Amino acid sequence: MGTGGSRCRVSTAPWSPALPVAVVVLSFGLAGCSSRLGVPEPVTSEGESILTLWRALFWTAAALGAVVMGLIAWCIVRYRRRGSSELPAQSGGSIPLELIYTAIPIAIVAVLFAMTLVTDSNALTLRHRPELRVDVTGFQWQWRFEYPDRGVTVQGGPGDLPELVLPLDSVVHLRLRSVDVIHSFFVPGFLTKRDLTPGATNTIEVRPKRTGTYGGHCAEFCGLDHARMNFTVRVVSPAAFEEWASTRATGGEGG
Ligand code: CUA
Repeated sequence: MGTGGSRCRVSTAPWSPALPVAVVVLSFGLAGCSSRLGVPEPVTSEGESILTLWRALFWTAAALGAVVMGLIAWCIVRYRRRGSSELPAQSGGSIPLELIYTAIPIAIVAVLFAMTLVTDSNALTLRHRPELRVDVTGFQWQWRFEYPDRGVTVQGGPGDLPELVLPLDSVVHLRLRSVDVIHSFFVPGFLTKRDLTPGATNTIEVRPKRTGTYGGHCAEFCGLDHARMNFTVRVVSPAAFEEWASTRATGGEGG
């Protein structure tokens, strides 16, 4: 019966923790290539706070993953079978250790939960007096942007993407409504997405922090031409916004 010896050789075959370590280091390295960790550059101050939350969640998860994988690798290497069939010393547990590894995860989850709650509430509640209000209406299959205080309406049509023009660094309240089915207002650069639900009005507050033109989409399948329900957001200086609004309000339908 020489099988016991060969089994021992199999179990002590060269095993290196290099692979998991390399995977972890590589993952961290790739993630570190972009400090935004795959998220678009935020256009609004609300988006910036969401990016901060995303970073906190990511790096906490990465650190925990590294600790757990490191402990697993250490156990595998340190306590691997070494030719003897004797069991190692058996212990019956440790109350202090169990309290510690229960308390630490609870504390981590509590902190992340609080951060999520605050960020979510900041992103989804109207916290400031609006300097501009825009009624955003979704319909099959386009968008209408109405500026009730300026008498301006922008509506998209087939092959004609509507443009939501916003002034830089102003508090904007967007009131989202649908006249038919559920749509979803999604501007990746805002790092925020909100549904337009028939019979209800959803609101978001944004304060654009960067000028430029950004893509927007309907992010809820809403029928045949859902994929063409796109729009652009153009953030301009307050002076340029006033000029644009007055041109549009006096009946100019271009741009
Ligand atoms: Cu509207 Cu999809």
